[in-house]
Amino acid sequence: MPKITLSVIKADVGGWVGHSSSHPDILELAKNDLAKAKSSGLLIDFCVLRCGDDLELIMTHTRGENSPDIHGLAWDTFKDATDLAKKMKLYGAGQDILSDTFSGNVKGMGPGVAEMEFEERKSEPVIVFMADKTSPGAWNLALYKIFADPFNTAGLVIDPSMHDGFKFEVLDVKKQEAIIFTIPEEIYDMLVFTGARERYLTRRVWRKSDNEIAAVSSTQKLALIAGKYVGKDDPVLIVRMQSGFPAVGEVLEGFAFPYLVAGWMRGSHNGPLMPVSFKDANPTRFDGPPRVIAAGFQITNGHLIGPRDMFDDPSFDYTRKVAEEITDYMRRHGPFEPHRLPLEDMEYTTLPGVSKKLKERFKKVK
Ligand code: F6R
Ligand code: MG
Ligand code: MG
Repeated sequence: MPKITLSVIKADVGGWVGHSSSHPDILELAKNDLAKAKSSGLLIDFCVLRCGDDLELIMTHTRGENSPDIHGLAWDTFKDATDLAKKMKLYGAGQDILSDTFSGNVKGMGPGVAEMEFEERKSEPVIVFMADKTSPGAWNLALYKIFADPFNTAGLVIDPSMHDGFKFEVLDVKKQEAIIFTIPEEIYDMLVFTGARERYLTRRVWRKSDNEIAAVSSTQKLALIAGKYVGKDDPVLIVRMQSGFPAVGEVLEGFAFPYLVAGWMRGSHNGPLMPVSFKDANPTRFDGPPRVIAAGFQITNGHLIGPRDMFDDPSFDYTRKVAEEITDYMRRHGPFEPHRLPLEDMEYTTLPGVSKKLKERFKKVK
Protein backbone atom coordinates (compact mmCIF):
# COMPACT_ATOMS: atom_id res chain seq x y z
CA MET A 1 0.00 0.00 0.00
CA PRO A 2 1.51 3.38 -0.99
CA LYS A 3 1.50 6.20 1.53
CA ILE A 4 -1.89 7.82 1.85
CA THR A 5 -2.65 11.52 2.20
CA LEU A 6 -5.44 12.89 4.33
CA SER A 7 -6.42 16.36 3.09
CA VAL A 8 -8.90 18.56 4.91
CA ILE A 9 -9.76 21.68 2.93
CA LYS A 10 -12.48 24.09 4.09
CA ALA A 11 -14.12 27.34 3.14
CA ASP A 12 -17.11 29.45 4.06
CA VAL A 13 -18.99 29.66 0.77
CA GLY A 14 -22.15 31.11 2.28
CA GLY A 15 -24.11 30.92 5.52
CA TRP A 16 -27.65 29.81 6.39
CA VAL A 17 -28.99 31.88 8.22
CA GLY A 18 -26.46 34.75 8.43
CA HIS A 19 -23.14 33.21 9.51
CA SER A 20 -24.75 30.60 11.77
CA SER A 21 -24.89 27.40 9.72
CA SER A 22 -24.72 25.83 6.24
CA HIS A 23 -27.57 24.84 3.94
CA PRO A 24 -28.04 21.09 3.27
CA ASP A 25 -28.19 21.71 -0.51
CA ILE A 26 -24.62 23.06 -0.39
CA LEU A 27 -23.42 19.91 1.36
CA GLU A 28 -25.29 17.76 -1.19
CA LEU A 29 -23.62 19.59 -4.07
CA ALA A 30 -20.16 19.13 -2.51
CA LYS A 31 -20.85 15.42 -1.96
CA ASN A 32 -21.82 15.02 -5.63
CA ASP A 33 -18.66 16.76 -6.83
CA LEU A 34 -16.42 14.64 -4.61
CA ALA A 35 -18.30 11.44 -5.52
CA LYS A 36 -17.37 12.09 -9.17
CA ALA A 37 -13.73 12.49 -8.17
CA LYS A 38 -13.94 9.22 -6.26
CA SER A 39 -15.35 7.32 -9.24
CA SER A 40 -12.67 8.82 -11.51
CA GLY A 41 -10.03 7.43 -9.13
CA LEU A 42 -8.62 10.80 -8.00
CA LEU A 43 -9.92 10.27 -4.46
CA ILE A 44 -9.87 7.03 -2.51
CA ASP A 45 -12.64 8.31 -0.25
CA PHE A 46 -14.21 11.49 1.13
CA CYS A 47 -16.54 12.85 3.78
CA VAL A 48 -18.34 16.21 3.60
CA LEU A 49 -19.22 17.93 6.88
CA ARG A 50 -19.90 21.43 8.09
CA CYS A 51 -19.17 23.35 11.25
CA GLY A 52 -21.26 26.52 11.53
CA ASP A 53 -21.03 28.27 8.16
CA ASP A 54 -17.91 26.35 7.06
CA LEU A 55 -17.97 23.65 4.39
CA GLU A 56 -15.44 20.93 5.26
CA LEU A 57 -14.02 18.58 2.61
CA ILE A 58 -12.24 15.57 4.14
CA MET A 59 -10.45 13.57 1.43
CA THR A 60 -8.05 10.62 1.14
CA HIS A 61 -5.81 9.97 -1.88
CA THR A 62 -2.27 9.05 -2.88
CA ARG A 63 -1.18 12.33 -4.52
CA GLY A 64 0.71 13.71 -1.50
CA GLU A 65 0.42 17.10 0.17
CA ASN A 66 -0.11 20.23 -1.96
CA SER A 67 -1.28 18.21 -4.95
CA PRO A 68 -2.58 20.61 -7.66
CA ASP A 69 -5.20 17.98 -8.62
CA ILE A 70 -6.58 17.69 -5.10
CA HIS A 71 -6.42 21.44 -4.43
CA GLY A 72 -8.02 22.01 -7.85
CA LEU A 73 -10.84 19.62 -6.95
CA ALA A 74 -11.47 21.46 -3.68
CA TRP A 75 -11.33 24.81 -5.47
CA ASP A 76 -13.79 23.72 -8.17
CA THR A 77 -16.12 22.33 -5.49
CA PHE A 78 -16.04 25.62 -3.57
CA LYS A 79 -16.67 27.53 -6.82
CA ASP A 80 -19.67 25.29 -7.65
CA ALA A 81 -20.95 25.68 -4.10
CA THR A 82 -20.48 29.45 -4.31
CA ASP A 83 -22.52 29.57 -7.53
CA LEU A 84 -25.36 27.75 -5.78
CA ALA A 85 -24.99 29.91 -2.65
CA LYS A 86 -25.25 33.02 -4.84
CA LYS A 87 -28.33 31.66 -6.56
CA MET A 88 -29.92 30.95 -3.18
CA LYS A 89 -28.68 34.33 -1.90
CA LEU A 90 -27.14 32.58 1.12
CA TYR A 91 -25.34 34.97 3.41
CA GLY A 92 -21.80 36.00 2.44
CA ALA A 93 -21.80 33.75 -0.64
CA GLY A 94 -18.21 33.07 -1.70
CA GLN A 95 -16.87 34.73 1.47
CA ASP A 96 -13.59 32.77 1.59
CA ILE A 97 -13.01 32.58 -2.16
CA LEU A 98 -10.61 35.48 -2.54
CA SER A 99 -9.47 34.98 -6.11
CA ASP A 100 -11.02 34.28 -9.49
CA THR A 101 -8.16 32.24 -10.87
CA PHE A 102 -6.71 29.03 -9.47
CA SER A 103 -2.95 28.63 -9.69
CA GLY A 104 -2.31 25.11 -8.42
CA ASN A 105 -2.71 25.49 -4.65
CA VAL A 106 -5.56 26.87 -2.56
CA LYS A 107 -3.19 28.20 0.12
CA GLY A 108 -3.30 31.98 0.19
CA MET A 109 -6.54 32.04 -1.79
CA GLY A 110 -8.96 31.91 1.13
CA PRO A 111 -9.68 28.27 2.01
CA GLY A 112 -8.04 26.64 5.07
CA VAL A 113 -5.91 23.52 4.59
CA ALA A 114 -4.52 20.76 6.83
CA GLU A 115 -2.86 17.80 5.10
CA MET A 116 -0.71 14.91 6.22
CA GLU A 117 0.89 12.03 4.33
CA PHE A 118 1.66 8.80 6.19
CA GLU A 119 1.99 5.06 5.92
CA GLU A 120 -1.24 3.56 7.16
CA ARG A 121 -0.64 1.56 10.34
CA LYS A 122 -2.12 -1.84 11.19
CA SER A 123 -5.04 0.20 12.49
CA GLU A 124 -5.26 3.96 11.87
CA PRO A 125 -7.58 5.99 14.11
CA VAL A 126 -7.67 9.75 13.40
CA ILE A 127 -9.80 12.69 14.47
CA VAL A 128 -10.47 15.74 12.32
CA PHE A 129 -11.32 18.75 14.49
CA MET A 130 -13.20 21.62 12.86
CA ALA A 131 -13.99 24.92 14.54
CA ASP A 132 -16.17 27.94 13.76
CA LYS A 133 -16.00 31.57 15.02
CA THR A 134 -12.36 31.28 15.97
CA SER A 135 -8.91 31.39 14.42
CA PRO A 136 -6.02 28.89 13.97
CA GLY A 137 -4.38 29.96 17.26
CA ALA A 138 -7.29 28.21 18.97
CA TRP A 139 -5.41 24.88 18.63
CA ASN A 140 -2.32 26.01 20.57
CA LEU A 141 -3.64 25.23 24.03
CA ALA A 142 -5.24 21.89 23.14
CA LEU A 143 -2.14 20.73 21.25
CA TYR A 144 0.03 21.67 24.19
CA LYS A 145 -2.16 19.68 26.56
CA ILE A 146 -2.43 16.66 24.26
CA PHE A 147 1.25 16.34 23.33
CA ALA A 148 3.14 18.06 26.17
CA ASP A 149 1.15 17.89 29.40
CA PRO A 150 1.27 14.66 31.45
CA PHE A 151 -1.69 15.90 33.53
CA ASN A 152 -3.70 15.59 30.30
CA THR A 153 -1.97 12.70 28.54
CA ALA A 154 -1.04 9.84 30.80
CA GLY A 155 0.78 8.13 27.93
CA LEU A 156 3.57 10.72 28.10
CA VAL A 157 4.51 9.11 31.42
CA ILE A 158 3.39 5.52 30.86
CA ASP A 159 3.89 4.61 27.17
CA PRO A 160 7.60 4.05 26.31
CA SER A 161 7.10 5.12 22.64
CA MET A 162 5.74 8.52 23.71
CA HIS A 163 7.99 8.98 26.71
CA ASP A 164 10.72 10.78 24.69
CA GLY A 165 8.20 13.48 23.80
CA PHE A 166 7.23 15.29 20.63
CA LYS A 167 8.44 18.07 18.34
CA PHE A 168 6.28 21.14 17.74
CA GLU A 169 6.57 23.37 14.66
CA VAL A 170 5.49 26.93 15.51
CA LEU A 171 4.73 29.56 12.85
CA ASP A 172 5.15 33.30 13.31
CA VAL A 173 2.23 34.49 11.18
CA LYS A 174 3.53 38.03 10.84
CA LYS A 175 7.04 37.11 9.68
CA GLN A 176 5.97 33.83 8.04
CA GLU A 177 8.89 32.05 9.76
CA ALA A 178 8.70 28.71 11.57
CA ILE A 179 10.73 27.19 14.41
CA ILE A 180 10.80 23.60 15.74
CA PHE A 181 10.78 23.03 19.52
CA THR A 182 11.74 19.76 21.17
CA ILE A 183 9.34 18.82 23.96
CA PRO A 184 9.60 18.39 26.97
CA GLU A 185 13.11 19.95 27.01
CA GLU A 186 12.01 23.27 25.47
CA ILE A 187 8.51 23.62 26.93
CA TYR A 188 9.28 26.90 28.68
CA ASP A 189 10.87 28.39 25.55
CA MET A 190 7.95 27.31 23.40
CA LEU A 191 5.27 28.69 25.72
CA VAL A 192 6.79 32.17 25.43
CA PHE A 193 5.51 32.05 21.86
CA THR A 194 2.50 29.71 21.67
CA GLY A 195 0.91 31.50 24.64
CA ALA A 196 0.56 34.45 22.22
CA ARG A 197 -1.92 32.51 20.15
CA GLU A 198 -2.84 35.18 17.61
CA ARG A 199 0.75 35.60 16.45
CA TYR A 200 2.32 32.13 16.90
CA LEU A 201 0.51 29.05 15.63
CA THR A 202 1.28 25.39 16.27
CA ARG A 203 1.43 23.99 12.75
CA ARG A 204 2.71 20.41 13.05
CA VAL A 205 3.60 17.89 15.74
CA TRP A 206 5.85 14.84 15.26
CA ARG A 207 6.70 11.97 17.62
CA LYS A 208 10.30 12.52 18.58
CA SER A 209 11.44 8.88 18.66
CA ASP A 210 10.78 8.24 14.93
CA ASN A 211 9.61 11.56 13.46
CA GLU A 212 6.15 10.14 12.70
CA ILE A 213 3.65 12.89 11.96
CA ALA A 214 1.11 13.18 14.78
CA ALA A 215 -0.88 16.37 14.13
CA VAL A 216 -1.29 19.06 11.46
CA SER A 217 -3.36 22.24 11.69
CA SER A 218 -4.53 24.81 9.15
CA THR A 219 -2.62 28.03 9.63
CA GLN A 220 -4.11 30.34 7.04
CA LYS A 221 -4.97 33.71 8.54
CA LEU A 222 -7.60 35.01 6.18
CA ALA A 223 -7.37 38.55 7.46
CA LEU A 224 -3.61 38.62 6.82
CA ILE A 225 -4.11 37.17 3.35
CA ALA A 226 -6.67 39.73 2.32
CA GLY A 227 -5.12 42.69 4.18
CA LYS A 228 -8.52 43.71 5.48
CA TYR A 229 -11.40 42.09 7.30
CA VAL A 230 -13.05 39.64 4.93
CA GLY A 231 -14.36 37.00 7.27
CA LYS A 232 -13.07 34.25 9.47
CA ASP A 233 -10.17 31.87 9.19
CA ASP A 234 -12.06 29.17 11.08
CA PRO A 235 -9.49 26.40 11.49
CA VAL A 236 -9.18 22.61 11.14
CA LEU A 237 -6.82 20.13 12.79
CA ILE A 238 -5.92 16.47 12.10
CA VAL A 239 -4.66 14.25 14.95
CA ARG A 240 -3.50 10.58 14.75
CA MET A 241 -4.13 8.46 17.81
CA GLN A 242 -3.33 5.26 19.73
CA SER A 243 -0.43 2.76 19.56
CA GLY A 244 2.30 5.22 20.49
CA PHE A 245 0.25 8.38 19.90
CA PRO A 246 -2.12 9.83 22.52
CA ALA A 247 -5.26 7.71 23.04
CA VAL A 248 -8.62 8.90 21.70
CA GLY A 249 -9.60 9.94 25.23
CA GLU A 250 -6.32 11.80 25.79
CA VAL A 251 -6.83 13.74 22.57
CA LEU A 252 -10.45 14.65 23.39
CA GLU A 253 -9.43 15.53 26.95
CA GLY A 254 -7.48 18.45 25.44
CA PHE A 255 -10.89 20.10 24.90
CA ALA A 256 -12.47 19.28 28.29
CA PHE A 257 -11.67 22.74 29.62
CA PRO A 258 -13.49 25.39 27.54
CA TYR A 259 -10.56 27.80 27.28
CA LEU A 260 -10.85 31.26 25.73
CA VAL A 261 -10.17 31.72 22.03
CA ALA A 262 -10.39 34.71 19.70
CA GLY A 263 -12.84 35.11 16.82
CA TRP A 264 -16.31 35.38 18.32
CA MET A 265 -18.69 38.11 17.01
CA ARG A 266 -17.18 40.09 14.13
CA GLY A 267 -13.92 38.20 14.63
CA SER A 268 -13.30 40.65 17.45
CA HIS A 269 -14.09 38.94 20.75
CA ASN A 270 -12.68 36.30 23.06
CA GLY A 271 -14.99 33.51 24.16
CA PRO A 272 -14.91 29.90 25.36
CA LEU A 273 -14.30 27.10 22.85
CA MET A 274 -17.36 24.87 23.22
CA PRO A 275 -17.02 21.22 22.09
CA VAL A 276 -20.34 20.14 20.52
CA SER A 277 -21.95 17.38 18.47
CA PHE A 278 -22.29 17.87 14.71
CA LYS A 279 -25.95 18.88 15.06
CA ASP A 280 -25.14 21.58 17.62
CA ALA A 281 -22.45 23.30 15.56
CA ASN A 282 -24.63 26.36 14.86
CA PRO A 283 -23.22 29.39 16.70
CA THR A 284 -26.15 31.63 17.55
CA ARG A 285 -25.66 33.45 20.88
CA PHE A 286 -23.82 36.67 19.95
CA ASP A 287 -22.84 34.62 16.85
CA GLY A 288 -21.22 32.11 19.15
CA PRO A 289 -19.80 31.01 21.41
CA PRO A 290 -16.99 29.51 19.26
CA ARG A 291 -17.61 25.81 18.50
CA VAL A 292 -15.46 22.79 17.83
CA ILE A 293 -16.60 19.44 16.46
CA ALA A 294 -14.58 16.22 16.29
CA ALA A 295 -15.05 13.68 13.47
CA GLY A 296 -13.43 10.33 14.25
CA PHE A 297 -12.42 7.87 11.52
CA GLN A 298 -10.67 4.56 11.18
CA ILE A 299 -8.71 4.81 7.96
CA THR A 300 -8.73 1.43 6.24
CA ASN A 301 -6.79 1.06 2.98
CA GLY A 302 -7.37 4.78 2.55
CA HIS A 303 -11.11 4.50 3.17
CA LEU A 304 -12.71 6.71 5.79
CA ILE A 305 -14.68 4.46 8.13
CA GLY A 306 -16.74 7.11 9.84
CA PRO A 307 -17.44 9.80 10.80
CA ARG A 308 -18.07 9.17 14.50
CA ASP A 309 -19.37 12.29 16.21
CA MET A 310 -16.85 12.27 19.09
CA PHE A 311 -18.23 15.15 21.21
CA ASP A 312 -21.75 13.68 21.08
CA ASP A 313 -21.22 12.35 24.60
CA PRO A 314 -22.75 13.29 27.95
CA SER A 315 -19.25 13.34 29.46
CA PHE A 316 -18.80 16.68 27.65
CA ASP A 317 -22.06 18.14 29.04
CA TYR A 318 -20.20 19.61 32.00
CA THR A 319 -17.66 21.30 29.67
CA ARG A 320 -20.57 22.77 27.72
CA LYS A 321 -22.23 23.99 30.90
CA VAL A 322 -19.01 25.70 32.03
CA ALA A 323 -18.74 27.19 28.52
CA GLU A 324 -22.25 28.62 28.89
CA GLU A 325 -21.32 30.21 32.21
CA ILE A 326 -18.15 31.67 30.71
CA THR A 327 -20.22 32.90 27.76
CA ASP A 328 -22.47 34.83 30.09
CA TYR A 329 -19.56 36.16 32.16
CA MET A 330 -17.65 37.35 29.09
CA ARG A 331 -20.74 38.89 27.48
CA ARG A 332 -21.26 41.15 30.48
CA HIS A 333 -18.02 42.92 29.58
CA GLY A 334 -19.69 44.22 26.42
CA PRO A 335 -17.18 46.31 24.45
CA PHE A 336 -14.50 46.06 27.14
CA GLU A 337 -11.37 43.93 27.02
CA PRO A 338 -10.68 41.10 27.63
CA HIS A 339 -14.01 40.19 25.95
CA ARG A 340 -13.19 42.45 23.03
CA LEU A 341 -9.78 41.71 21.51
CA PRO A 342 -6.86 44.06 22.18
CA LEU A 343 -6.61 46.78 19.53
CA GLU A 344 -3.50 45.34 17.83
CA ASP A 345 -5.40 42.12 17.10
CA MET A 346 -8.18 44.15 15.51
CA GLU A 347 -6.06 46.05 13.03
CA TYR A 348 -7.58 44.14 10.12
CA THR A 349 -11.19 44.46 11.27
CA THR A 350 -13.61 47.24 10.44
CA LEU A 351 -12.86 49.10 13.69
CA PRO A 352 -9.81 51.07 12.41
CA GLY A 353 -12.25 52.84 10.07
CA VAL A 354 -13.91 54.36 13.14
CA SER A 355 -10.67 55.47 14.82
CA LYS A 356 -9.38 56.96 11.54
CA LYS A 357 -12.34 59.32 11.47
CA LEU A 358 -11.34 60.72 14.90
CA LYS A 359 -7.59 60.95 14.28
CA GLU A 360 -7.48 64.74 13.77
CA ARG A 361 -9.32 65.38 17.02
CA PHE A 362 -6.56 63.93 19.18
CA LYS A 363 -4.33 66.80 20.43
CA LYS A 364 -0.95 66.50 22.12
CA VAL A 365 -1.05 67.07 25.89
CA LYS A 366 1.75 68.60 27.98
C1 F6R B 1 -17.63 36.06 13.25
C2 F6R B 1 -18.66 36.11 12.24
C3 F6R B 1 -19.83 36.95 12.51
C4 F6R B 1 -19.84 38.21 11.64
C5 F6R B 1 -21.04 39.13 12.03
C6 F6R B 1 -21.11 40.37 11.15
O1 F6R B 1 -16.64 35.22 12.88
O2 F6R B 1 -18.59 35.50 11.20
O3 F6R B 1 -19.90 37.28 13.87
O4 F6R B 1 -18.64 38.90 11.79
O5 F6R B 1 -22.23 38.42 11.93
O6 F6R B 1 -21.21 39.93 9.83
P1 F6R B 1 -21.46 40.94 8.60
O7 F6R B 1 -20.36 41.97 8.67
O8 F6R B 1 -21.36 40.02 7.41
O9 F6R B 1 -22.82 41.53 8.78
MG1 MG C 1 -19.72 33.33 7.13
MG1 MG D 1 -17.21 30.28 9.81
